[in-house]
Amino acid sequence: MGAVSGHSPDSLDPNDPVALVDQFASGYPFDLDDFQRRGCLALASGQSTLVAAPTGAGKTVVGEFAVWLALRSGGKAFYTTPLKALSNQKFGDFVARHHARNVGLLTGDNAVNGEAPVVVMTTEVLRNMLYEASPTLRGLRYVVMDEVHYLQDRVRGAVWEEVLINLPVDVKVASLSATVSNAEEFGEWLETTRGPTEVVIEERRPVPLDNYYLLGRELHPMFVTRGDDGPVPNPQLARRGEREWGASSGRDSKGRHGHGRGAGAGRGGRRAVGRDWVPSRVEVVDLLEDEGLLPAIYFIFSRAGCDNALGQCRAAGVRLTTDDERARVLEFLDLRVATLDPADLDALGYPDLAESIGRGVASHHAGMLPMFKEAVEELFAQGLVKVVFATETLSLGINMPARTVVIEKLSKWQGERHEVLTPGEYTQLTGRAGRRGIDVRGAAVVLHQPFIPFERIVGLASTRTYPLTSSFRPSYNMAVNLVANYRRDQAEQLLASSFAQFLIDRTLHGAEQTLARNQRYLDGYLHSAACDRGDALDYWRLRREISARESELSQADRRAREEAAAAAVRALTAGTVVYLPGARRRGLAVVLGPAGGRNGATGVLVMTEDRRVRRVSVRDLGGAPVPVGKVAFARTLSPKSPRFKARLAEQLARLDPPVPPKAPRRRGSAAGDPELASLRERLRAHLVHRCPDLHEHEKWLQRYDQLDKENQRLAGRVRRRTGSLVRIFDRVLAVLDRLGYVDGFQLTPKGETLRRVYSEADLVVAEAIHRGTWEGLTAAELAACVSSLVYETRGGEGPPPEPVGPPTRPGRDALAALADLRAEVAAHEQAEGLELTRPLDGGFADLAWRWASGGTLEDVLGGEEITPGDFVRVTKQLIDLLGQIASVAEGPALVKTARAAVDACQRGVVAYSGLL
Ligand SMILES: Nc1ncnc2c1ncn2[C@@H]1O[C@H](COP(=O)(O)OP(=O)(O)OP(=O)(O)O)[C@@H](O)[C@H]1O
Ligand SMILES: [Mg+2]
Repeated sequence: MGAVSGHSPDSLDPNDPVALVDQFASGYPFDLDDFQRRGCLALASGQSTLVAAPTGAGKTVVGEFAVWLALRSGGKAFYTTPLKALSNQKFGDFVARHHARNVGLLTGDNAVNGEAPVVVMTTEVLRNMLYEASPTLRGLRYVVMDEVHYLQDRVRGAVWEEVLINLPVDVKVASLSATVSNAEEFGEWLETTRGPTEVVIEERRPVPLDNYYLLGRELHPMFVTRGDDGPVPNPQLARRGEREWGASSGRDSKGRHGHGRGAGAGRGGRRAVGRDWVPSRVEVVDLLEDEGLLPAIYFIFSRAGCDNALGQCRAAGVRLTTDDERARVLEFLDLRVATLDPADLDALGYPDLAESIGRGVASHHAGMLPMFKEAVEELFAQGLVKVVFATETLSLGINMPARTVVIEKLSKWQGERHEVLTPGEYTQLTGRAGRRGIDVRGAAVVLHQPFIPFERIVGLASTRTYPLTSSFRPSYNMAVNLVANYRRDQAEQLLASSFAQFLIDRTLHGAEQTLARNQRYLDGYLHSAACDRGDALDYWRLRREISARESELSQADRRAREEAAAAAVRALTAGTVVYLPGARRRGLAVVLGPAGGRNGATGVLVMTEDRRVRRVSVRDLGGAPVPVGKVAFARTLSPKSPRFKARLAEQLARLDPPVPPKAPRRRGSAAGDPELASLRERLRAHLVHRCPDLHEHEKWLQRYDQLDKENQRLAGRVRRRTGSLVRIFDRVLAVLDRLGYVDGFQLTPKGETLRRVYSEADLVVAEAIHRGTWEGLTAAELAACVSSLVYETRGGEGPPPEPVGPPTRPGRDALAALADLRAEVAAHEQAEGLELTRPLDGGFADLAWRWASGGTLEDVLGGEEITPGDFVRVTKQLIDLLGQIASVAEGPALVKTARAAVDACQRGVVAYSGLL
């Protein structure tokens, strides 16, 4: 059917999807792309839709169509996003389009016009409404789930599935997703849970991308087109790679090489082959300017790295703005921060920031105050900021396209080690390159990576997508809400219909086929192993029994040796000098005293020759410790003092270097074991034992054993995972039953409380309320205590500081009581084979106390324990949880204290909402 445009509302047939879409499209200054049209048509004809398309492709249009449809039919539409910043942005857009009276906003921070026909909200808000059967849901026709791939987020992902599972089936859903490799599979699941769902996949980027590799001051295309082959990796670069890394083989296929030292990139200390080839950040910025590649987003995967880059540009006098632009930037910023206290501005490092931004250079990361981050986003969109040094968080959610994306290093710190980016991450990061309607092509510039083979880099840039997985699992809050709203069989049915279980069932189906095939092979092996003298399998069982007995005996020997060693360690007295044989800490060490090791392992505290105090276990000692001398302790000195250590070290140095002791060889107990002897006797007497083809039989039987072991493992996995979510649910219910939240499949009054506690520590919160753990605290003490349930010390950049509790006695006592409570909950979980509640983290308690006691921003940030961005984020989470406590608390005293704590925290930079 041809596209008809220009319908007037009254001539429009509401049953003609094409006409509806045409009318909607006429409100845009551009023509809809084919994929947008297909998504809209699905909605117009009463289906749900999943739209998977690259960053910046224009998925929002489909969501906007759902909103438009709802409004014109007098129904409601909810637009959900994972991020407050994104919700705020969308709210602004919809107000401009559909008038303020029709649009509401519900996030943790803001509640504006919540009963409007169109409401933008965070996904959690909708989940809570569903569980509480909120009257606001009445009339709901459409739900847009923007960034639905958040479903795989480890912490929050389950919320997306809760919504998709619990939403009434007559509500149509427009799911908007980044490109994922299993979009069809996800669509299939949506269809089984939500009814007819049109899957629309667009793989093309809206603006094509050129990938460059930067060596020195030279930009090399990563791919070249050769004849009809289409793009191939640039042979010049591939050859250079071979010269530099030797053959392109696995110099380090995991890319682990040397990244630990790379932190000082751009500064001295690089001995790497590629020294001449990696330009400094300032040089890169100059180059981008010369090549006309600005504005650019420059990814550096560390907050400190981004801030350093700003400093380096300031020091080098980089200036990318005209006088006029600079004046506009400064005016904009001054207006923005007008609401803040000038003293706070200093504490936040505003003067330096403004100076940099005035030059057209900014940073963007989660350590920054949200207000500053938003200002940077807006100035970038206006073209006034030309280079943004950013961490990967910028690649999520907000619409912030650039001409160019620079990637400094292709590896990033993942909590424990450096890991090379995945193709999905590369796609996500470079998705920001190329502004629709402005740039004909976008550019991705990867700086020379001396430690990663070129072929690997090319691999990142040519594979596009990653599969969407599920992180859904039943939580306590989910469990009590299921109990409240459904019968047991219905609840189990719901869990079984999650995407998580869907994916599990998929893999199980494959696994079952493998099991059947393996069984056929196993039968074949046995057939081939048959012996005409006797029963080969019977003979083989005997052999298995013998080796099982042998390993049993040798394990017993080892245990005896370990116990002897542990006893020797326990007998060590302070002052004894021992020899540490281990490769890493070889040398002499003085015993300082006993030390409880991890998992109850026996250990001692020692000081080594290099004056380090460490804990060593029997394993570090490589067996029983051999005392090689004794030194005297200066009892008057503190063992922590440098003088004490110096004295000990002196004495150590005076001792003779030891001869590494040799472990005596022992006879194993296998020699005298009657059981083993009798088994061996039977083996020798077996008919098959003398078969001339024994070797051939053995070969088949060994194969049999190997495959059989594999198959049993697989069968175990299948057994464990069949219906696994329902089983976890049963365990969660068991814990809830132990603590009196449910009685059978019935909620108790306590259980009712838990229904409205949405927190990773939901059960601990409900339990603390119920037991009165927080009674009698001041507001600041309560804030301190509760912060331990939301805060998580950032790993990765330096060791975490020692946690400081709140400075008051009741505060510390309550924190300790809370820790006991969480340990008790964890013990119940362990008894049921669960691990749901994370440990407390008291790292924010002192800050929370200071802020809630009315301290200034300088008081809180001055110690540099935390960045402004983290401070604001954690405090907002804290306020959210305090608010929940206020609303579910049982006694009026706690309600009052929790409210007071919310008020005490909700001020200054924390109160700023991002809504103008
Ligand atoms: N058909 C079109 N023609 C031209 N421009 C369009 C078209 N559709 C959308 N745009 C514009 O493209 C930009 C990006 O659109 P949008 O934010 O919807 O992308 P997205 O697919 O949601 O990306 P992300 O994955 O980042 O959320 C917007 O500025 C939008 O106005
Ligand atoms: Mg979007």
